Amino acid sequence: MSRAGALVTASVVLVVTALGCGDDGGDEPVFPADYAATYQEVRDCRGSADHDLGQIRVLADPAALGPYQARDVPFPLGAVVLKVEYDFGDPDCTGEITQWTVMKREDGGDAAALGWRWQRVDRQRRVVTENEPRCFGCHLNCGVPPDGYLGTCAVP
Ligand code: HEC
Repeated sequence: MSRAGALVTASVVLVVTALGCGDDGGDEPVFPADYAATYQEVRDCRGSADHDLGQIRVLADPAALGPYQARDVPFPLGAVVLKVEYDFGDPDCTGEITQWTVMKREDGGDAAALGWRWQRVDRQRRVVTENEPRCFGCHLNCGVPPDGYLGTCAVP
């Protein structure tokens, strides 16, 4: 191989290696940026004493919608429940979103995480925390009907 060829090969290897390390904090949010097009509101705007006293709305993706509302079947793998959070001084949830907290049904994860993957995502869509123990620690205690259902925490 020519020297130029070797250099090109080495650069390609470097680029591929750099792109490949997605697990070290570079995770993507588990919900799409255009979630509003397909997710439906299951709890309307209200205050949340448990989520840092902010105002919140809860949305479900098409897979989570039925089980979240009817509580008759388990959530299928991949189902997403999204909490959209607003400033506590925003009574109608019409102002800027402050952050999202989200849970996605995943298999093979940490059993202690109740079968969900948990994320806190800032308004720039950066994943701030992933599987924080305080998320599922608290959701565990509301996982008994009537308040909780399979890791979710509120009667819709
Ligand atoms: C101190 C307890 C507590 C902690 C800590 C907590 N939650 Fe919750 N969470 C609740 C309660 C209670 C509700 C339902 C009532 C409400 O919305 O405030 C809820 C609701 C939710 C919902 C809406 C679905 C539902 O009905 O359960 C999501 C999504 C969620 N939490 C994700 C998270 C994530 C992600 C974290 C960690 C970053 C977290 N929660 C930390 C108590 C908690």
